[in-house]
Amino acid sequence: MKMTPLGEEIGAEVTGCQLAEMSDEALDQLKEAVWESGVVVLRGQDLSPQQHIELANRWGGIDINNYFPLNGEHPEIAEVRKEKDQQTNIGGGWHTDHSYDQVPAMGSILVARTLPLKGGDTLFAHMGAAYDALDEETKAEIAGMRAVHSADHIYAPDGAYAQTDQGKALRGQELKTLATHPVVIRHPQTGRKLLYVNPAFTLHFEGQTREESLPLLQRLYAAAMTPEAQARVVWKPGTVTIWDNRTTWHMALNDYPGEERIMHRITLSGEALAA
Ligand code: SIN
Repeated sequence: MKMTPLGEEIGAEVTGCQLAEMSDEALDQLKEAVWESGVVVLRGQDLSPQQHIELANRWGGIDINNYFPLNGEHPEIAEVRKEKDQQTNIGGGWHTDHSYDQVPAMGSILVARTLPLKGGDTLFAHMGAAYDALDEETKAEIAGMRAVHSADHIYAPDGAYAQTDQGKALRGQELKTLATHPVVIRHPQTGRKLLYVNPAFTLHFEGQTREESLPLLQRLYAAAMTPEAQARVVWKPGTVTIWDNRTTWHMALNDYPGEERIMHRITLSGEALAA
């Protein structure tokens, strides 16, 4: 297995690995690469939906997403789908998946199934690099703080998606979510300090209103917006991307009007997060 960096401080492109027939040793190596770099990209993969599920189970288990449409034959697989005539995509703003859960998902395995001719790339940002970029005063200010996360304002019947042409396809509008996590977590495997707030699901700091929280939240978010902390995955047929939600944010670009894009996503089970 060979790894080539994707960005300055984030990601790796892995060659010499077929996900469908990987040894336990290779799987451990791949996990290590995901823990360390945040996101890995593998090209030329021939991964059937069944093999996708098997890989996720070998990795450590599946968290079924409560909102995305599920694949009819394989309900473990959520479909990130934009039809030709839809305007809105799923995941089009910076976020980390499932931070609204008390035990957030570890990450995802995303498989390209139908791609536009051009566009539909996914951007990733490394939240360890973002934390490292903060000045010492800000690091001291956020040490010990916690933040409140929810998905209700996104998925509820009067939430963000309901106003769009994705509204009808989504599930779980009746669900209620609320979780609190440290603003700075330690990666459960590497121990690296990571900024764990995100623009989509973080509502406010514990003990503060949204208005009081916003100036500091915006400053923290700005730390992830540097070229060094970011990488872009350009999808091709056969591309599979695996990322760590604790270490990264991601966003799917919506720049392919009139074309279809269908991705199969399995969300991997995680663990409670600690400072
Ligand atoms: C997501 O999981 O947010 C979607 C990513 C993508 O479609 O590229």
